[in-house]
Amino acid sequence: MAWDGVALLEREDATSGARILIAIHSEALGPATGGTRMKSYPDAEAARADAMRLAEGMTYKWAAAGFPRGGGKAVLAVPPDFRAGERPGLLRRYGAFMRELGGRFWTGADVGTSSGDMDVIAEEGAPYVFSRTPGNGGAGDSGTWTAIGVAASIEAACARLFGSRSLSGRRVVVQGAGSVGLPLIEILTAQGAEVEFGDVSPEAGRSLPPAVRRIGADEVYGRPCDVFAPCALGATLNAQTIPRLACRAVAGSANNQLSTAEDAERLAARGILYAPDFVVNAGGAVAITGIEALGWTRERAGREVRAIGETLDRVFDIAREAKITPDAAARRLAEERLTEASRVR
Ligand code: PHE
Repeated sequence: MAWDGVALLEREDATSGARILIAIHSEALGPATGGTRMKSYPDAEAARADAMRLAEGMTYKWAAAGFPRGGGKAVLAVPPDFRAGERPGLLRRYGAFMRELGGRFWTGADVGTSSGDMDVIAEEGAPYVFSRTPGNGGAGDSGTWTAIGVAASIEAACARLFGSRSLSGRRVVVQGAGSVGLPLIEILTAQGAEVEFGDVSPEAGRSLPPAVRRIGADEVYGRPCDVFAPCALGATLNAQTIPRLACRAVAGSANNQLSTAEDAERLAARGILYAPDFVVNAGGAVAITGIEALGWTRERAGREVRAIGETLDRVFDIAREAKITPDAAARRLAEERLTEASRVR
């Protein structure tokens, strides 16, 4: 895979059998900052590729959001039989590794890690750890902040499609009722949208009212709706799923939704408006890092996250004027900020 990043740092954690990967993609706008993902991979190459691609996504995320941080991501690739008892030790050793880097990489919670995990990482890795629990001086989970940004993005998509930001009566299908999907469903239903969701886990979404209909995990693709919101893992928009979509727009929180770059064209060819993932899902990282590193109030964080809706308006404008996909337009916007920053230096 072609990767134009700065460094991929790697350490084997012999005690737990895990592999610690820290990918630093860009430091042009500020110190590399991104979540810590904990997951099993088929092999070390797959874990490396994921870390690098996610770090690159963070570069674009911060740049498109106009936030002074660089792109980075950590992956804790654990063996499939990883035992819960090994977890705190691995997290602490990872924290010590981060501290050795002296602030070149900052982190927060991501898929497979929680605020509680950040507390443990911070025992060794402070002050480079965001999204610890409030009890430990952190700003807590980022999921609800991300969901607020996704809701603002869905409004922007509706404005483009229907001429109104109102979600009343709009049909939204949410893929994944997890840390972002669940609060998103609550926000959307409160705004009068009709929401359906699918999840691979039978436990997910148990707390939701019956008005929020559960559909099969694979049914989410073909379900007729106004907006499809992928809020689970990445690469769900691909040559197999895009022909099945029965939505007018896609706007969700998952990182790296497009399986390949051509999938942006595939969506456009089907007349589906795609809201680029790295613009839509910046809310959690922006709010938590803003509160913890820039001293923002929660009100300020809320305003900044809702402004993602206006960033998307601009992305859709650029796409229309330049006759390019919204994904290409968002990359152009981010790249402008990155080159501007390297010129100032
Ligand atoms: N999960 C966040 C993301 O992908 C990572 C993050 C959380 C970064 C909190 C900083 C603070 O954007």
